[in-house]
Amino acid sequence: IPEIEMPGHALAAMQAYPELGCSGGPYDAAQTWGVFDEVFCAGKDHTFDFLQGVLDEVIEIFPSTYIHIGGDECPKAEWKKCPHCQKRIKDNNLKDEHELQSYFIQRIEKYLNSKGRQIIGWDEILEGGLAPNATVMSWRGDAGGIAAANEGHDVIMTPNSYGLYLDHKQGQDRNREPLSIGGYSTMEIIYRADPVPQKLEESKRKHIKGVQGNVWTEYIETPNKVEFTILPRVLAISEIAWTNPALKNWKEFSEKRAAHELAKIDRTSTRYRVPEVYGLKDTVIYASEYVVRGLKPSVEGAKIYYTLDDYDPSELDLEFTGQVKITVPDGKERVFKAVVITPSGRKSNYVRAQIINTKK
Ligand code: ACM
Ligand code: ZN
Repeated sequence: IPEIEMPGHALAAMQAYPELGCSGGPYDAAQTWGVFDEVFCAGKDHTFDFLQGVLDEVIEIFPSTYIHIGGDECPKAEWKKCPHCQKRIKDNNLKDEHELQSYFIQRIEKYLNSKGRQIIGWDEILEGGLAPNATVMSWRGDAGGIAAANEGHDVIMTPNSYGLYLDHKQGQDRNREPLSIGGYSTMEIIYRADPVPQKLEESKRKHIKGVQGNVWTEYIETPNKVEFTILPRVLAISEIAWTNPALKNWKEFSEKRAAHELAKIDRTSTRYRVPEVYGLKDTVIYASEYVVRGLKPSVEGAKIYYTLDDYDPSELDLEFTGQVKITVPDGKERVFKAVVITPSGRKSNYVRAQIINTKK
């Protein structure tokens, strides 16, 4: 399904065709990530003629019933100042610029419906009145998805709050991760999400059609990094999309099935992020003695190595086989760090347990 973004996030089109903007430009295509005030003019009929021409070409290329028309992150500042947009509001008895956005989306929907196609839009298309046949993609949390389903619209769940933004970093410590937009999403966060909100009344749940993971690439410049970004989290997306929630079991999924899939990927040249060792999270413990046990590798056939001196462990260090007893002298501390090293030699981030003996 193609997405042709409108009326915001379209500076590149506006640089090429400045008459599509309220002021007539000139405009520069965005050079950085951002939400920009310059958007398609909703007052000029020319904007709609142009977009219908684009959509005619898209329809020819893509046989999908659905065409995504964006609709997200459209600031209203330019529309407030634009005589064309203000005239449109007046002529159509619209209340404000939010209803003008709704007018924009509904006009495009009507056109696509006339061609036998259906629209999908981000949850902002709820603002100012939802287009009659639209399917909503809920991304700013699940509230938009719930509201749309309650109005009888179909919904695709892709909330950032469910971990479905795969451009978010995969570990809490940014210093251990490649550059990313920020946020935080792991295979476990996604696995524990249920795309059908329990808050949603039973009779409306049929409107939740499925889930989507988003791979926005502002901070992803190479195909290798796309693979690293998708894997292993896409395994969890498959599970929440197609597994009955009653059958979900994080321990069994992570330690057995995902570990088995990752071992298969490990035998290829495909990039993936090796999940941290299971059974321990970064922690600080106040004790004179601590026993680390129950650690499991995140990839089948991988080994766990550890250090006790706060150095980043490698295959040159001690192998974890069962348990490690750490004794901390009075007034001292010890730092246990463990990594997973896969059969192909790929390494996870470390997990760190700091054990402090406060006795004088
Ligand atoms: C979005 O992430 N702006 C849909
Ligand atoms: Zn305008």
